[in-house]
Amino acid sequence: ESTLGAAAAQSDRYFGVAIASGRLGDSVYTNIANREFNSVTAENEMKIDATQPQRGQFNFTAGDRVYNWAVQNGKQVRGHTLAWHSQQPGWMQSLNGGELRQAMIDHINGVMSHYRGKIVEWDVVNEAFADGGSGARRDSNLQRSGNDWIEVAFRTARAADPAAKLCYNDYNVENWNAAKTQAMYAMVRDFKQRGVPIDCVGFQSHFNEGNPYNSNFRTTLESFAALGVEVSVTELDIQGASPTTFANVTNDCLAVASCVGVTVWGVRDSDSWRAQHTPLLFNNDGSKKPAYDAVLNAL
Ligand code: XIL
Repeated sequence: ESTLGAAAAQSDRYFGVAIASGRLGDSVYTNIANREFNSVTAENEMKIDATQPQRGQFNFTAGDRVYNWAVQNGKQVRGHTLAWHSQQPGWMQSLNGGELRQAMIDHINGVMSHYRGKIVEWDVVNEAFADGGSGARRDSNLQRSGNDWIEVAFRTARAADPAAKLCYNDYNVENWNAAKTQAMYAMVRDFKQRGVPIDCVGFQSHFNEGNPYNSNFRTTLESFAALGVEVSVTELDIQGASPTTFANVTNDCLAVASCVGVTVWGVRDSDSWRAQHTPLLFNNDGSKKPAYDAVLNAL
């Protein structure tokens, strides 16, 4: 196959990309995105601040722009993200306790009903665990609303769109030996045991000096898959874009039957939130980097 998406589709997987609505007028960008990828995640447009800027007033203009571009070009869409400590609108940042709990439920219902039946996988909860060696939950207004906020989010999401696969998504959870990985594993195992509706786990996979790729990533993917969830690489970028590391990540997903796909977090280096790391598959002029060939060869 000659594109990433078509190559991934040979094993019923997707190869996706984060799309920024503000770049959809750039034909170099859209030509690559349309040619190479068969799944789309909105980089920012479906987040809480974008979709509910004022309490009770939903705005899907930018989210729909990304969604419509994707679907008109034959791509599936990952939803990102419904409950998160970051990119909360100001009104939500100032809420706490039971009021925040209800606002989270209302937000999940509002966004998921707009996209009901249209989103293959939703990142229901994003980045709920702390960095470092504690294995604790991250402190946030959501966490302070009660430790059960994550399962409340998942139960709400299941009722709001029963067809969507419901994912937990986090970063620095690729290394099997990390406390954060083990904490996430314990939560997913507990949810599966107690029947909390969770279908998938997303590994953001922002690899850099602080979170280097480790070959035990495959063990991580296998271990989560063994709990009965799908796994995916949801926001891949690699500082310096080592072709070997990109190929290793691709091969790790391919090696795990329940790994459904890989999403890279942008098209060209200049589109990346970490542009100075040159972490993506395409140069600023749209040409393919060595990492691109490494991924295509691996698929
Ligand atoms: C990033 C976007 O790429 C930036 O444009 C934005 O300014 C901040 O968020 N984890 C996530 C993504 O789940 O939503 C983040 O995206 C990167 C880290």
